Amino acid sequence: MSLTVDQQKQAAARAAIDYIENDWVVGVGTGSTANHFIDALATIKDRIDGAVASSEASAQRLKAHGIRVFELTAVGELPIYVDGADEINANLQMIKGGGAALTREKIVAQCADKFICIADESKLVRVLGQFPLPVEVIPMARSLVGRAMVKLGGHPAWREDCVTDNGNWIIDVHGLTIDEPIKLETAINQIPGVVTNGIFALRPADVLLLGKTSGVEVFK
Ligand code: A5P
Repeated sequence: MSLTVDQQKQAAARAAIDYIENDWVVGVGTGSTANHFIDALATIKDRIDGAVASSEASAQRLKAHGIRVFELTAVGELPIYVDGADEINANLQMIKGGGAALTREKIVAQCADKFICIADESKLVRVLGQFPLPVEVIPMARSLVGRAMVKLGGHPAWREDCVTDNGNWIIDVHGLTIDEPIKLETAINQIPGVVTNGIFALRPADVLLLGKTSGVEVFK
């Protein structure tokens, strides 16, 4: 067996189904790996109550499968959140937001008892930062936040074609070596105009299901 990257994503997504118990409302992430999870979730839709989505795109895909989608405010806490990552390290700290859904992802993840990250093996890194760090900003703060990123040693680039589900903009910060993810996540969030940044270290994943060419490996 030698799985392609897409097959690795699908295998990890399918493995996450084993963690879903009957009558749960499931927190669902965003992206190509999360899409595989939504498709897998459809096969057990009769034994779950529904889902909370971290983006409009995921909500649409869930509804297209006939899975009931709840507002987070109607549910409060969740037993589980399943999502992909752009990078993940051995401490299960991540960079997320390549799909611009980082703020809602961080909110839904924070409400979950357990965060399961599903990813293909290219996402596992020793040090975070090779993937440009997404930062969601209030539009009028774009230049202010960009200058602050330069002071932190990064090279900011405005994702010009992107408006988030929250009506904000994304700055992708290149060139960071993120040795202390919690410290940098906290520091960036102090800059006025930052909605949130794509470092998920204060609330890392609890389990990583990593799709590899040879199958799925579990990290805890
Ligand atoms: C969405 O904003 C992101 O956080 C995604 O979870 C991340 O980009 C992973 O996407 P893929 O599963 O498409 O690689």
